Amino acid sequence: MKHARIIGTGSYLPEKVLENSDLEKMVDTTDQWIRERTGIERRHIAADSETTCDLAEKAARNAIDAAGINSNDIDLIVVATTTADCVFPSVACLLQHRLKITNACPAFDVQAVCAGFVYALGVANTYIRAGSATNVLVVGAETFSRILNWEDRNTCVLFGDGAGAVVLQASDAPGIHSTHLHADGSYSELLHVPEGISRGYAEMQQQAYVQMRGSEVFRMAVSKLAEVADEALIANNLDKTEIDWLVPHQANLRIIKATARKLSMTLDKVVVTVQDHGNTSAASIPLALDVAVRDGRIKTGEKLLLEGFGGGFTWGAALITF
Ligand code: ACO
Repeated sequence: MKHARIIGTGSYLPEKVLENSDLEKMVDTTDQWIRERTGIERRHIAADSETTCDLAEKAARNAIDAAGINSNDIDLIVVATTTADCVFPSVACLLQHRLKITNACPAFDVQAVCAGFVYALGVANTYIRAGSATNVLVVGAETFSRILNWEDRNTCVLFGDGAGAVVLQASDAPGIHSTHLHADGSYSELLHVPEGISRGYAEMQQQAYVQMRGSEVFRMAVSKLAEVADEALIANNLDKTEIDWLVPHQANLRIIKATARKLSMTLDKVVVTVQDHGNTSAASIPLALDVAVRDGRIKTGEKLLLEGFGGGFTWGAALITF
């Protein structure tokens, strides 16, 4: 049975940067409050004309270049997003066309909010393990700025836009050792956009933005991320000291620190980009991964633990030899 190995990473951030000092002029908040409670200093915001697929395309092209393959060798596209360009087709289908992939490979989106990239990686890994795909493009891309109420200081300071991507290839050497995906829909009202297409367009206009009970989300995130990290270590018979890098979802520096503490990892072994990106939902893990690969921190052969938690609730982890 083949393994799924990451052979290329890529990312893209929109040009526009929104500093905490800019937000001070928009809502009743301060740079100090945002830094102390979240670790966020700035975030990127898509231009009015820029869509999720635009960001996904740039990240995907970077990952394909890094992988050194022809885009027509890709035989599966999975895009993790909550903020698709349109109701349908999926961003994955739009992306296939943009990348001029003409081999009619399957392409679909996965929606698990901030855990979306780990979910997409799990799906892609299963395809490769089953022998159903050889080169898989996995993208996490979001324009969360479009589903924020820019008058709600509880949420608008937390999120940013961006995209990250990886190319997975079937290999005899181990790559993704395991993925662990979970959901508990009974918590859906703690973090949600409560309106959507089937609830009617009129209400959608009024309510189609993120609503969150922050401190409850925070507590669940810390607890579930610790649980799923343990699950991944036990499944692979690994000790926490054998993990070279933690690449967590970038929601809040305090959540990241709490997770690192539970793994007895010092912060120099954790990839942290939340200060510059904010929470980019499904894009945050592949963005952080690409940053640390390109600046030389993450090297071939090292063991990575990826993990994410998001609305649903959904959460998951992936244990990888890079
Ligand atoms: N500026 C100033 N004050 C604020 C702001 C703001 N931007 N936002 C909230 N406050 C106020 C609140 O109104 C509250 O005031 P009150 O005491 O007068 O009512 C006070 O700050 C404290 O609010 P808390 O919610 O208790 O603050 P907390 O320490 O929990 O921090 C935060 C809030 C940052 C949202 C935290 O709970 C958090 O990060 N939760 C996780 C949420 C998250 O990351 N969600 C994203 C998706 S899920 C995920 O990715 C893990």
